[in-house]
Amino acid sequence: MTQVSLYDGRVVWLVTGAAAARELLIDQRLSADQTNKWFPSPTPQFKKRVGSRRLSLLGVDDPEHSAQRRTVIPSFTVKRIAALRPSIQATVDRLIDGIIEQGPPAELVRGFALPVSSLTMCALLGVPYEDHELFEEQSRRLLAGPTPEDTAAAGMRLHTYVGELIERKRRQPGEGLLDDLIQRQLAEGAIAEDDLVHLASLLIVAGHETTTNMIALGAFTLIEHPARLAELRADPKLMSAAVEELLRFLSVAEGALRVATADIEIAGYTIRANDGVVFSNSVINRDTAVYSEPDELDWHRPVRHHFAFGFGIHQCLGANLARAEIEISLRTLFDRLPGLALAVPATEIPFKPGTTLQGLLELPVTW
Ligand code: HEM
Repeated sequence: MTQVSLYDGRVVWLVTGAAAARELLIDQRLSADQTNKWFPSPTPQFKKRVGSRRLSLLGVDDPEHSAQRRTVIPSFTVKRIAALRPSIQATVDRLIDGIIEQGPPAELVRGFALPVSSLTMCALLGVPYEDHELFEEQSRRLLAGPTPEDTAAAGMRLHTYVGELIERKRRQPGEGLLDDLIQRQLAEGAIAEDDLVHLASLLIVAGHETTTNMIALGAFTLIEHPARLAELRADPKLMSAAVEELLRFLSVAEGALRVATADIEIAGYTIRANDGVVFSNSVINRDTAVYSEPDELDWHRPVRHHFAFGFGIHQCLGANLARAEIEISLRTLFDRLPGLALAVPATEIPFKPGTTLQGLLELPVTW
């Protein structure tokens, strides 16, 4: 635990240890409600984005949170995700066919990681992929600005799009999570239309940005660690352990935020009511009390309890889907392009701006 100043001078708690994170993330005195006037804002863009609007699921505390989560959980069971694997594999194969046909060099963010993630999210939710440029662009602006006005405008545009999509689907139902929610929950009055728009927007953004980042950064990391890649090739059974270790090592979703609603004693410190709390997933995932040599990639370490997907009631809903996408994408990419290498020096690979979601803007490769 330590204290840090945010851009606006506000001092908040930064949680950097796994034991404290595990205790705090299940503590009901920490709230995820972004409409709380004491909720910390890591950037001016974030402040503008949340305003007085309530975020579904991720911004809701229990008991309401459990009720919202129950409406979507059936679409994320291990069985449902297993059923999506053949279509993820087909998408990955088709994209790699195209890459091979075009010949080297190739760019793997827009040419691979982003379409795998967007197409999978579209299949799950029933969002038409024809609209991908719109939701990809608005998600990017929503998360990374560059200005607070941009972020707010992107949020509004995404909401308008989702509202129109729900209207379209009411007239012409399709197949997907969104259609299920419209037909079951909305029609029966179990969810308000505005909440459904917020929920669907969250799923669209969360469902493609993070996995894009993990697939691209995962490929980059494997290329940069040839000995670890060789180990994986020699023993493909290591793949699922490798996905967990890459999730820990890369921790692409950084800085979960909460606000204290009462005083909390933790590890000899007192978090006061109304204090902001930030969880640094990347530092927590390198806690030396849990991981020996945390800066090393190691497929053999016990890594099941990492924090890359968060912890507690808000733990990532899409974790199993993300695991399937990362595993299928990386395995197939390195199987089919055995000579995969960076097309430019590693220092010239551009990273995404901003601090909350780590990712690559471009990944130029050759083979
Ligand atoms: C590698 C990919 C992913 C990473 C690293 C990731 C990371 C996270 C993290 C850290 C949280 C917790 C945030 C907090 O406690 O404040 C979270 C929550 C969430 N994620 Fe993911 N995520 C990924 C993929 C996905 C996918 C594919 C989906 C949906 C299809 C998704 C949907 C969600 C939702 C809905 C929540 C909020 C859950 C709740 O509040 O109950 N995520 N994710």
